[in-house]
Amino acid sequence: MLRVAIVTEDPGWHGAELKRAFRARRIGTRFLSLRHCRFDLTRGCQGIVMPGFEGRLPDGVFVRGVPGGTLEQVVLRLDFLHALRELGIPVYNDGRAVERTVDKGMTSFLLKRAGVPTPPTWVCEDLAEARTVLMRETAAGHDVVVKPLFGSQGVGVQRLKAGDGVPDESHCHGAWYLQRYVESSPDGSSGWHDWRVLVIGGDSVAAMARHGRSWINNVAQGARCEAADLGDELGRTAADAVAGVGADYAGVDLMRGRDGALQVIEVNGIPAWRGLQRVTGFSIAERLVEDFVTRHLSRPLEAVC
Ligand SMILES: Nc1ncnc2c1ncn2[C@@H]1O[C@H](COP(=O)(O)OP(=O)(O)O)[C@@H](O)[C@H]1O
Ligand SMILES: [Mg+2]
Repeated sequence: MLRVAIVTEDPGWHGAELKRAFRARRIGTRFLSLRHCRFDLTRGCQGIVMPGFEGRLPDGVFVRGVPGGTLEQVVLRLDFLHALRELGIPVYNDGRAVERTVDKGMTSFLLKRAGVPTPPTWVCEDLAEARTVLMRETAAGHDVVVKPLFGSQGVGVQRLKAGDGVPDESHCHGAWYLQRYVESSPDGSSGWHDWRVLVIGGDSVAAMARHGRSWINNVAQGARCEAADLGDELGRTAADAVAGVGADYAGVDLMRGRDGALQVIEVNGIPAWRGLQRVTGFSIAERLVEDFVTRHLSRPLEAVC
């Protein structure tokens, strides 16, 4: 029987959904925290020790969460994802895709390179440069959004207007990510919204509109979810964004500004899908597992230890 490690700190609803979907395909699962993995070159399989996989490493790894920590801890946790891939074990999303999407600066660069529409964005370590960008943008009539480079769920994002200062070094951890503000509200004071599109295996499969209580449209910030049609443009743009960052699956945030142009705001390589599931007619976990299994687990696996 194949055994998959579901990497998570907190299995919760998503863990249960995945477990059930894997079980339906006769694949066993075990939840695993990357904090509890270690390298021990004197034992373990190929020097990797993973609780619950002592005799044999997993046949595949589904990544649901990489806990934050010190730079060293986070790098070490990602090392395990890279190491497993080095051994030929499918990791979904793999360490490279996780790194690229956790880091908003790298995501922006890759979107630009792939020709995917995304707002003008600046990322730098120099406070004076960040101030210059803010001055220039506001003088041209644009507000600016500043975001934590590794943020999520709308935490720490700020909207800066003419006359505002750039947040200090401690807020931004010494790296400023600045992006031109896209106005999604019809009148500037209500009706804010964006879209979340889920892309699996290259296909856009589900979409919802998120109506925020403010311009920050995250579900975690109280946004209301509503099913949305996967129009051609929305679906294609989201799929291009995920291809651009090289992820197996991802949740893409998109907005349409007053000029009507669609813009990709963010690509989430470890997306939650509970909100989206409520407005989607099929099981998202089953779709994810189907993609993982058919594209990565169906070829004969080499025994790695
Ligand atoms: N450039 C922008 N213009 C307008 N609103 C934005 C912009 N960037 C982000 N937002 C709003 O803030 C939310 C959170 O930003 P996002 O980049 O998705 O970071 P997070 O990782 O915190 O979700 C978005 O869903 C969107 O509603
Ligand atoms: Mg987001």
